[in-house]
Amino acid sequence: MSAPTPKTEPLLRKCVIPAAGLGTRFLPATKAIPKEMLPIVDTPTLQYIVQEAVSAGITDVILISGRGKESMIDHFDLAVELEATLKARGKEEEFRKLRAISDMVTVLSVRQKEPLGLGHAVLCARGLVGNEPFGVMLGDDMIDSEDPGIRQLARVFHQYKQGVVALMEVPDSETHLYGIAAGKEIADGVIQIDRIVEKPKRGTAPSNLAVIGRYVLPPDIFGILENQPPGVGGEIQLTDGLATLQKQQGLLGYRFKGLRYDAGDKVGYLKANIAYALKRPELRGPLLEWLGEIVKAEKP
Ligand code: UTP
Repeated sequence: MSAPTPKTEPLLRKCVIPAAGLGTRFLPATKAIPKEMLPIVDTPTLQYIVQEAVSAGITDVILISGRGKESMIDHFDLAVELEATLKARGKEEEFRKLRAISDMVTVLSVRQKEPLGLGHAVLCARGLVGNEPFGVMLGDDMIDSEDPGIRQLARVFHQYKQGVVALMEVPDSETHLYGIAAGKEIADGVIQIDRIVEKPKRGTAPSNLAVIGRYVLPPDIFGILENQPPGVGGEIQLTDGLATLQKQQGLLGYRFKGLRYDAGDKVGYLKANIAYALKRPELRGPLLEWLGEIVKAEKP
């Protein structure tokens, strides 16, 4: 996979990738390996997310890292010895693939000393973001789209001059698992949010539009998060900060175009692996054949 090149002028310079969580749903795999480094086929989830940012023209990628998760930073650095060995063994293709990762972008990083919640993770980037709009891309949420998901949101941000969150319809039975937003559709796919709530109790969700892991936000969110008490699960929730932002200056939702995989969830992770493997010509045939066989064997 070669490094993506932005197709047009950048709409957004900076993005924050929160990736400091404990990844408890993937234990024991995540005891010593960051969840964001688990591979989708042969590429870490985090690399797909950084590639989306670079494709969208983002130049400053700010990774929020945590204790024991240094391999995420190493992944985007030069691997001098490994590259020399590949060269010496004539493995040009592998060498180029590796070099493309470190050439792609410079990843800046900040440690979140304790995983106090997504809102707190975003707040950790304040010093590196400064006083300009920025993207937030969750380190375990993948969007497969020709038009990078974060770029779709950046366009809406620039048109309306308001913060934007990515929205996706989910079944009523799943609304308690997400941040949920409700409001009025003001243009194709653009929703003026009038309510946003984190993990509403079953039967109380204001809609079935779930907030998923892409946001474009004004820097004013930092002042809000700084003063925000913990919410659901005792964590400093980004959604609670967004609810305040909505009241102060308005907030939009955008039904993004593309396929989304929650690689932080086991079923989502498996789906992403199958979907991305099916896109590889060398894997597609054998995988489909095997899937056909097991589906047949599973039938009563
Ligand atoms: P998740 O809630 O999916 O991540 O957060 P988690 O807490 O690591 O997962 P589980 O539930 O224990 O399995 C979404 C993204 O936000 C980051 C995570 O690393 C993940 O990429 N995050 C979450 C932080 O950076 N800091 C936090 O305090 C919480």
